Amino acid sequence: MICRIDPERVLCKRDPMIYGQFLEHFHRQVYGGVFMPGHELADEEGFRKDVLEALRRIKTPVIRWPGGCFVSSYHWEKGVGKRVKVFDKSWRVEDDNSFGTDEFIAYCRKLGCEPYICLNAGTGSEEEMSNWMEYCNLDHEGEYAQKRIENGHREPYNVKYWSIGNENYGHWEIGAKDAKSWARLVLETSKMMKRVDPDAELSAAALTDIDWNVNLLSTAAERLEWISIHSYWDFMGPNHIAATYEQCMAYTHDLDRSVRQVRGLLNAFGLEKQIRIAYDEWNLRAWHHPNIHTVKQASRKEDYLTPRDKNDDNSTYTVADAVFSACFLNMILRNADIVGMANFAPMVNTRGCIFTHDKGIVLRPTYHVFELYTRLMGDEIIDLYGDESPLYEVVSKEGEKVQVAQVDVLATKHSEDGTIAVSLINKHATETAQVTLKLNAEGRACCVETLCGQSSDDYNDVDRNPVVPFENDAAAVVCGDEITITLPAHSVNVLTLK
Ligand code: AHR
Repeated sequence: MICRIDPERVLCKRDPMIYGQFLEHFHRQVYGGVFMPGHELADEEGFRKDVLEALRRIKTPVIRWPGGCFVSSYHWEKGVGKRVKVFDKSWRVEDDNSFGTDEFIAYCRKLGCEPYICLNAGTGSEEEMSNWMEYCNLDHEGEYAQKRIENGHREPYNVKYWSIGNENYGHWEIGAKDAKSWARLVLETSKMMKRVDPDAELSAAALTDIDWNVNLLSTAAERLEWISIHSYWDFMGPNHIAATYEQCMAYTHDLDRSVRQVRGLLNAFGLEKQIRIAYDEWNLRAWHHPNIHTVKQASRKEDYLTPRDKNDDNSTYTVADAVFSACFLNMILRNADIVGMANFAPMVNTRGCIFTHDKGIVLRPTYHVFELYTRLMGDEIIDLYGDESPLYEVVSKEGEKVQVAQVDVLATKHSEDGTIAVSLINKHATETAQVTLKLNAEGRACCVETLCGQSSDDYNDVDRNPVVPFENDAAAVVCGDEITITLPAHSVNVLTLK
């Protein structure tokens, strides 16, 4: 397979927020994940230092919080000042409520990332949502900014990113809405929020469903800078059956469908210069929480609560998750002109890239994809053209034969020094792949880092760590204006030319 790279033809520039993360009050993401006051591994504010360090290493640019479904019955005022535990009707658990807005902002400041607040458009009113912005962004005017000052925070937080609602289109969501009432709610909420802080950027929950988005965009687009979409691919059912490696590769077929559809709608409305896509929840693996998004609610905790512990099984998150996630990030980078943010769902525990246990953390294979991409990939997407990838037949989880491109290649450039960085993914479970890049590498040092584990089902855990990147320079042979790279089976590779 031969690919030509033209470093001078820059297609677009990616927003660093495409490497964002998501933190929800679900299972052990907050309590037991980022926030463990009094734990030997926590700092003076109760934040796990090892988690903070791991997130710093992948240059986490933005964190979306507090949900997700959780937010659709969350009243932010109960989470500031004097706290009492609250019952979370979204997940049917008592929430400790000691981690609220002030703690979240402190966490983002300590990490050095942007806070992104998702508002309660389920049971919350336009007023309650815009009051949250008063609390965060007004200097001193009014009772909510005063409340922030009384809580010890004199300076406004200046939170820039806000999402009106989570998945209010879904029957499972508390306070679900129909398309027309949703559009009106977004219109009125955005009106009030822009009166509080006209510089804040607003998103609204959307779908790839035409009717929902047509109502939203024709009624409420005027004050939006973003539109939010979510995707999960492997729904593992009540018995927590994970898709196999090959079944996961089937999900890489038509990976850009949602982006294509929303882009088309934005273009149809002439909004493609005003509104960008925030893919603010994505993960190969859907979260495991049986018997909660159902009409009939289970009475016994062992039927709806205990099963959530299965999210903590690290053997679920294999090289397949890394290969899929790299393919997803390549798709996002190809669409970086319209996708400005993406948030891995979630960042810690559940299906996250970091797993915490009492003595430390496990960096799951997906973590190393973020580490490779944020450390090595450039900010400019450059033109790459040539042979189509050979096709690779896999059988989906539903038993259908699917032809997927075996190799996924994306070229980038660092605007500050011209370094070229190329992502080369070989999805095949057993066969190597050879790619020849045609570009002038004269006088450039060629390095390759590879992430592939020992097998396609390999994973990391408390007592094992085989899926880590390694230097694989021998994989590339430079000859004049050609570089020929041999890609190991089931591998994510980044080639850099400095
Ligand atoms: O499975 C977790 C849920 O996925 C999130 O809370 C929600 O936003 C999405 O449906």
